[in-house]
Amino acid sequence: MQHPPIVLEGYRNLHYEIREIVDFGHALQRMGRPITWENIGDPVAAGEKVEPWIKEIVADLVANDEKSFAYCPSRGVLATREFLAAKANERPGGTKVGPDDILFLNGIADGVDKIYDLMKKDARVLMPSPSYPTHTSNEGKRGDYPHLQFRLDPATGWLPDLEEIENKVRYNPQVVAIALVNPDNPTGAVYPRKTLEGIVAIARKYGLFVICDEIYCNIVFNGVEKVHLSQVLGDDVPGLALRGLSKNEYCGVLVKSKMMEVCSTTLPQMALPRIYGDPRWPAHKARRAKMFEARANQVYEYFRTVPGVIARPVHGAFYYAVTFEDGVLRPGQSLPIADPAVRAFVEKSNEGVAPDKRFVQYMMASEGVCVTPLTGFHTDLNGFRITLLNPDDAERARTLERIGDSIRRYIGA
Ligand SMILES: Cc1ncc(COP(=O)(O)O)c(C=O)c1O
Repeated sequence: MQHPPIVLEGYRNLHYEIREIVDFGHALQRMGRPITWENIGDPVAAGEKVEPWIKEIVADLVANDEKSFAYCPSRGVLATREFLAAKANERPGGTKVGPDDILFLNGIADGVDKIYDLMKKDARVLMPSPSYPTHTSNEGKRGDYPHLQFRLDPATGWLPDLEEIENKVRYNPQVVAIALVNPDNPTGAVYPRKTLEGIVAIARKYGLFVICDEIYCNIVFNGVEKVHLSQVLGDDVPGLALRGLSKNEYCGVLVKSKMMEVCSTTLPQMALPRIYGDPRWPAHKARRAKMFEARANQVYEYFRTVPGVIARPVHGAFYYAVTFEDGVLRPGQSLPIADPAVRAFVEKSNEGVAPDKRFVQYMMASEGVCVTPLTGFHTDLNGFRITLLNPDDAERARTLERIGDSIRRYIGA
């Protein structure tokens, strides 16, 4: 007997190229090709050392506080929520929050999953393009719809056009929220205060709420102002800052859903006030921001000299996105691959893929560097994203040269 289809139709919208490209890389490794991984934003995997004092705090909790093994309230450990609310309220201007406006989830990815899953199927969230795929995929999987997106434009340093956002909202009455990532992944853009205020003003005018993924809020550099969603929201526009600010009845549903799981993991919550409250934390945060500033500027200085690509200065997070100029990528381009079996594998894998992924696959096979194709971030812009995470300065510089040389040879410049 033929069973009816059981999988949600929107599964077609689930794409996470940052990891999908890894399967291709592993296949190349099995064929003897070593790979330098520049695709994943995992600082520890890339070689960054966790501060010994942070490890000591966690170890001390495990050794000496039995409660770190216990359940905690579904919203999260109260003392930690009180600590975080007080911290948020120290920020100049903006919405004041209390501990009950804060809900602990098991990482932002868990939050993102819940936020979109608990919305009605035809309620849509307008997202950036390029977009961090966990947001776009989860939003899109509820229905089988094309993504609704506003463009981040490399020509303006990856900033959105407020007029486009308003038009997308006006002509799509099913839009209930605008989502953004600030500082942004993959572009490294930091939204200026005026742009955030403009987005909040649109949300106010059309009765929407704002979702702001602030996971990189401690990595802002090159002299730009860091503005949290809570500082521009006002008391009349609901918002969800993904690290902790929330209001309105929809948040009650999120809390209920968390109750189904009992609670989020207790240990990190207990460690948080001790880490953020430690006198060493501000210097640690500032050192990391400076470190990524130097690396981001190095990457910009490198790619601005490479033909056929657009590179822009960036201001936050630890990624760098490069776009190809229009018309530069063409069918038939390739890079030399000595091993005939590898060459045949790449040619087969290239069938039907986006032009930037085709370049990335050739570069992986020919030069052994893995980056993430930009079209993997739900955009029609062709390019790629690299990370700024390798702590070895000489190796990072060498990786840039390998990518730059691959581009020159691929496009015949
Ligand atoms: C923009 C953005 N949001 C969320 C996440 C995942 O966050 P978490 O590790 O807290 O689940 C990432 C990880 O790369 C990210 O880049």
